[in-house]
Amino acid sequence: MFKDLFKAKKLTESDLDLTAVPRHIAIIMDGNRRWARKRRLPRNAGHQKGVKTLKQICYACKDLKIQYLSAYAFSTENWQRPVNEVNFLMDLFKKTFREELEELVEENVRVRIIGRREGIDTNLLRLMEDLERKTVTNDGFNLNICLNYGSRAEIIDAVNKILVEKNRPREIDEEYFEKFLYTSGLPDVELVIRTSGEQRLSNFLLYQSAYAEFVFTPIYWPEFSKKDLIRAVWEFQNRDRRFGRI
Ligand code: FPP
Repeated sequence: MFKDLFKAKKLTESDLDLTAVPRHIAIIMDGNRRWARKRRLPRNAGHQKGVKTLKQICYACKDLKIQYLSAYAFSTENWQRPVNEVNFLMDLFKKTFREELEELVEENVRVRIIGRREGIDTNLLRLMEDLERKTVTNDGFNLNICLNYGSRAEIIDAVNKILVEKNRPREIDEEYFEKFLYTSGLPDVELVIRTSGEQRLSNFLLYQSAYAEFVFTPIYWPEFSKKDLIRAVWEFQNRDRRFGRI
């Protein structure tokens, strides 16, 4: 009851405990095309606006002292979309990586691109490597862009990498296995947010989200704002996280 009353209130940053925010948030940025359709815009306008939203949310994460943000930009399944949409997205990634590089370096953001490299064209690959290399010493905030990412592909890739390891142990444990994931060395995801009303994980960071809290919002990604992020973090802070204990 008390919680419900509190929920109805407009939350601000001061309602959060900034010493206990999730260390790693994963966002499934869904609803770009529906947002565009609702406004009678071409569907790619939704993706363009989605990039702007992502940038604002990175700044919001920095304000809230969240250290890691993983954003689902393109899944291993997204290749099945119409070819002109796939091409548009690939061009959008190239344009964004080119345009944002300087600001990301200045803002002390470390960028990692997470996903399978095969299938990505060489121009985009070069820009991805450039972005990672030029931000590698940054430590203010960590942005992981999941591109050509799928959890099953990641786990299968990890197993195949282990199979060709010469000095692998007879039995592997979680600590050893984790080193072969694309996210090796990163903390577990503590909060997963999915926009647009869908309530699925869609092959996103399955292993890393084993103990994550989930927040689903009906808001389409292009209109997701800092206040929605604050609400999600507030929900996270008001959940009882037991990790299998009593
Ligand atoms: C989901 O909405 C969105 C995508 C598949 C693409 C997400 C990409 C961006 C927001 C751009 C991010 C950019 C960079 C540079 C990292 P949808 O197309 O599935 O929309 P729908 O659910 O309404 O059909």
